[in-house]
Amino acid sequence: MARKKIALIGAGAIGGTMAHLCALKGLADVVLYDVIDGLPQGKALDLLQSGPIENFDIQITGSTKYEDIAGADVCIVTAGIVRKPGMSRDDLLGTNAKILRQVSEGIKTHAPNSFVIVITNPLDAMVTLVKRVTGFPKNRVVGQSGILDSSRYRTFIAQELKASVASVSAVVLGGHGDDMVPVRSSCLLSGVPIEKFISGKRLDEIEARVRNAGGEIVSLLKTGSAFYAPASAAIRMAQSYLMDRKEILPCATYLEGEYGVNGYYFGVPVMIGAGGIEKVIEMELSPSERKAFEQSLTRVKELVQAMDKLLAAS
Ligand code: APR
Repeated sequence: MARKKIALIGAGAIGGTMAHLCALKGLADVVLYDVIDGLPQGKALDLLQSGPIENFDIQITGSTKYEDIAGADVCIVTAGIVRKPGMSRDDLLGTNAKILRQVSEGIKTHAPNSFVIVITNPLDAMVTLVKRVTGFPKNRVVGQSGILDSSRYRTFIAQELKASVASVSAVVLGGHGDDMVPVRSSCLLSGVPIEKFISGKRLDEIEARVRNAGGEIVSLLKTGSAFYAPASAAIRMAQSYLMDRKEILPCATYLEGEYGVNGYYFGVPVMIGAGGIEKVIEMELSPSERKAFEQSLTRVKELVQAMDKLLAAS
């Protein structure tokens, strides 16, 4: 059986880390694409030379030509600029929207049958733009956000309880911004509601840290943003698609009526299999969670409107 192919559009911190993960997992051949000549080629060559040590045979190439993504089964988009300390994800809107318009044209022309995972921020607007410009159906354009945010929630809870992360489950819904919704009622330690172990006040603090987790890393790194965990999250999505695992993962998904949301990308749990986004899973939310969900939705709508204004003016 021919190996599958993943095109990584953007060969920066997340792109390079995803290529490494693909190699270590033997998931698929990889093409790293970037506009900076030498960057994708250099990273590809370095990674390839770890093959005999790590014992993988996948091919990794670097390119500045869109033709080289031809035949990709999955495209993962990180092209764009990152935020600096003090910036919100939304501050990246104007620059990244222009970049993603170009990237979407490249994908539409050269990988018209691919499953597209968008990581570039501000995520909810960028994934909307990619769907519009490519014209791909909603099951084939998805945003990476909820897996990362949920993983951050699980990490902090596991640390608090000194328990294994494997025993903590939790979901974060909504937009990938400061209004994201850590769903406390979904947070369980081995099936037992988390409020049995941690006070409400402490949970408030942990959830605030989850909402600001990306910003916390930006202020530590100063010249970049998080890349290990975002890369892991996107590769988990790609793997579920390529292997038809049908995992239920929180992702930014185009909703048409589910959760009462119509015509917007929003983070909710979905099933990812060979058909792309195969199903949206509707969770029960408490009244306060529903209120936070609506607030986050308002913010996403404003973000998409702001993008439309910027693009109309450019
Ligand atoms: N086409 C392809 N690649 C591009 C383009 C373009 N038009 N414009 C910029 N790039 C490349 C840059 O050259 C750079 O190598 O995108 C890459 C981005 O890499 P980093 O700056 O290292 O950023 P990274 O940490 O990977 O994050 C990328 O993901 O999580 C989001 O907020 C983050 O929007 C940011 C994106």
